[in-house]
Amino acid sequence: MKEVQFEFKYLVYGSSADLPEDERQLLEAARNATQKSYAPYSHFHVGAAAKLGNGATVSGANQENAAYPICLCAERVVLATAASDFPDVPVHAMAITYRSDGQHCDHPISPCGMCRQALQEAESRMNCPVKLILGGKEGPVYVIESASLLLPLAFTSEELK
Ligand code: THU
Repeated sequence: MKEVQFEFKYLVYGSSADLPEDERQLLEAARNATQKSYAPYSHFHVGAAAKLGNGATVSGANQENAAYPICLCAERVVLATAASDFPDVPVHAMAITYRSDGQHCDHPISPCGMCRQALQEAESRMNCPVKLILGGKEGPVYVIESASLLLPLAFTSEELK
């Protein structure tokens, strides 16, 4: 028997103003994308913006439904849009943010489990890490070099070969 440990490092910036300019702009695009959210049930508006390998920026937001399990998270809306509009172009980075009425939104959120799985697939199919930039309306911003770091021991396409 042996014990195996998993750990990863990520960057914590004091605020979006401290980010490198390209990352700051991507987080700003994600903040703008919260306007595209359809969230009449949770009132939790998530925005995401991806920078692609061809320089394009794709953004999107969560889309809810009265049948709750149908709700689409912002991250998967953006991944699907990017893959549809720009097939075979890798996603280099994704910024994710949110706003919620009556809350301060002063800390980052990170992708739900389903989106972690989708991000892992986006990385493996393009053989390219997706950097995550996570921030609220204000407050600290986390930068994680590869989305797969958030999903240790993932189930991947390797199992289906
Ligand atoms: N949501 C996202 O869009 N991304 C996440 O990573 C977490 C949750 C959305 C889904 C739902 O519309 C609302 O936030 C509340 O869960």
